[in-house]
Amino acid sequence: MDKATARDRILELRKELDEHNYRYYVLAEPVISDYDYDEMMKELISLEREYPGFLDASSPSQRVGSDISREFRQVRHRYPMLSLDNTYSREELVEFDKRIKKTVSGPFDYVCELKYDGVAVSLTYVDGLLQMAVTRGDGEQGDDVTSNVKTIRSVPLKLRGGDYPREFEIRGEILLPREGFTRLNRERKERGENLFANPRNAAAGTLKIQNSSIVARRPLDCIIYRVLGDSLPYNAHYENLAKAGEWGFKISEQTRKCKGLDDIFDFIDHWDKYRAELPFETDGVVVKLNDFRLHNQLGYTAKTPRWAIAYKFSAERAATRITSVEFQVGRTGAITPVANLEPVQLAGTTVRRASLHNEEQMRILDIHSGDTVFVEKGGDIIPKIIGVDKGRRDTRSHAIEFIDKCPACSTPLEKEAGEAKHYCPAINTCPPQILGRIEHFVSRRAMNINMAEATVRQLFEKGLIRDVGDLYSLDTEALMGLDRFARRSAEKLIQSIENSKSLPWHRILYALGIRYVGETVARKLASSFPSFDELMDASEDDLLSVDEVGERIASSVLDYLSRPGSIIIIKKLKNAGLKMEDRPGLPKNQDKKLEGKKFVISGTFGHHSRDQLKTLIEQNGGTNVSAVSSNVDFLIGGENAGPSKLKKAQELNIQVISEDEFSDMIK
Ligand code: IVH
Repeated sequence: MDKATARDRILELRKELDEHNYRYYVLAEPVISDYDYDEMMKELISLEREYPGFLDASSPSQRVGSDISREFRQVRHRYPMLSLDNTYSREELVEFDKRIKKTVSGPFDYVCELKYDGVAVSLTYVDGLLQMAVTRGDGEQGDDVTSNVKTIRSVPLKLRGGDYPREFEIRGEILLPREGFTRLNRERKERGENLFANPRNAAAGTLKIQNSSIVARRPLDCIIYRVLGDSLPYNAHYENLAKAGEWGFKISEQTRKCKGLDDIFDFIDHWDKYRAELPFETDGVVVKLNDFRLHNQLGYTAKTPRWAIAYKFSAERAATRITSVEFQVGRTGAITPVANLEPVQLAGTTVRRASLHNEEQMRILDIHSGDTVFVEKGGDIIPKIIGVDKGRRDTRSHAIEFIDKCPACSTPLEKEAGEAKHYCPAINTCPPQILGRIEHFVSRRAMNINMAEATVRQLFEKGLIRDVGDLYSLDTEALMGLDRFARRSAEKLIQSIENSKSLPWHRILYALGIRYVGETVARKLASSFPSFDELMDASEDDLLSVDEVGERIASSVLDYLSRPGSIIIIKKLKNAGLKMEDRPGLPKNQDKKLEGKKFVISGTFGHHSRDQLKTLIEQNGGTNVSAVSSNVDFLIGGENAGPSKLKKAQELNIQVISEDEFSDMIK
């Protein structure tokens, strides 16, 4: 393809992908399949890679994120980001309306909108292109989160139409729809990570991640609620919002113009009743005056506009009694107190249990046996106990103490500084932890062994498996001794175990269930340490140099590897024939910087092990050879490099390079 054809194709693909993004993420009316979309995106990315001269920060390909880590830059807001006056009472809305009417004479319109429960963001557009996205921060200045916000598909990178002001700001709420939130928490649970309490926290946490490629994988959305600037098309809020919709922004379908209090109360009543049916969370209604001239006339208090007010819905809550508190042990040994409740109806479901999270939470709530408690269902999947009705407390009741020994194995519990949870340290002997780890090991995303939880339990109870390594010693006869197992089902399960042996090293690493090592971290670790032996040799610094690995993960990995029980398991897995290394099928880098080049490595190095260097060479398309000969291109020489190799390289005019020079070659 010549350059001009490539350029035309790139522009065409960008236009089409922008259109499909808009249809999918803003209008929710896709017209092509995900497959076709992905194919077009792949084609665009590959053309842009081939012709980097045509790169453009507004290209839809830029939404996939980058994994360059950085601190957020602070940016001062051109217009301060204010908050809203809040009320829970309808009388105060009547007061609000009265106050307005004291200042404003003649008819005027209100606009009612939902109050979206997420994180505020201010977007700046210049010449139709997204230039900057900044969080609210303290209202005066916030974090520059542009690269994260660029990954949100409902935020246009490039505006549609042509009648937008040359420069303007537009504000809205970034939120995580319920479905995305549930999925995110399910994945976190699988990885043994702490769950987000609600979609708002999840959206806020996501926006702070310093790696936009992780942000790109979370289905954030952005709904616009305000347009600001010197030359806006209209002098009224509702009309500007509608115009912003034409420019490609997502505006809410629920927004309504209202004539007065009756309309406002109808809007509130409707959404108080039906809000559970919305795809995202809302915690109230915002009432605004429509006309900008009235905004100026009414003005602002120090923190809030006088032309708007937020009416907050009261959370759905119910009162019920605690019948008992039990302490559950997770696969990572984390202890979670869970209250069993007298069943109560709440937001359309029957609630029987509620998490008490940890000791601190129990202490704050001051839970006594038999207490009547208030249960609330916010955005959380698990309802939470928000308070105790102390007036109904039995005077003979006693506070429920947190436990100090594991409820399953009686080992004294431990709590690390900075951690909210207690842990049972007996990871290799505590039954629920072993069972939980085996269940995780066989799960679909881990080793994909088709074994039901009940089977894991039976095998464990019969002493046939004590850890995941024992799965590979099972045979058909052993399985046929279990309930409901005939020869055929036993053989199928053995085959499924057998199949798992060919899974790559990063899947095994994830399957081991090391605390904080989820799928992404496992992949990153496996690509830096392509074999178990290299991981075993890694120092804390080596681990910390891996993208996404911080101190918490590094210390968890080191802790796992230092336990004799872990090494026994690894030995069993190795003996069973699992591939504890990824070397053979390494994904090659696209650009193949070392294509056709032959390398000899000699000596020891400061930043890489010899095996790591070998991997890097292969990943970049080069070949490793052991002896220096005339068809070798480079000798990477480290400390104590073999003198005979150096001499031979000199004789044959082979370039001898340092570790750093090598790193530069593949940068
Ligand atoms: S208007 C000057 N409209 O609520 C008024 N805010 O307490 C600017 N919010 O930080 C806000 N939905 O994050 C407005 N429909 C809506 C909103 C909304 C949610 C948030 C916003 C703001 C906070 C104000």
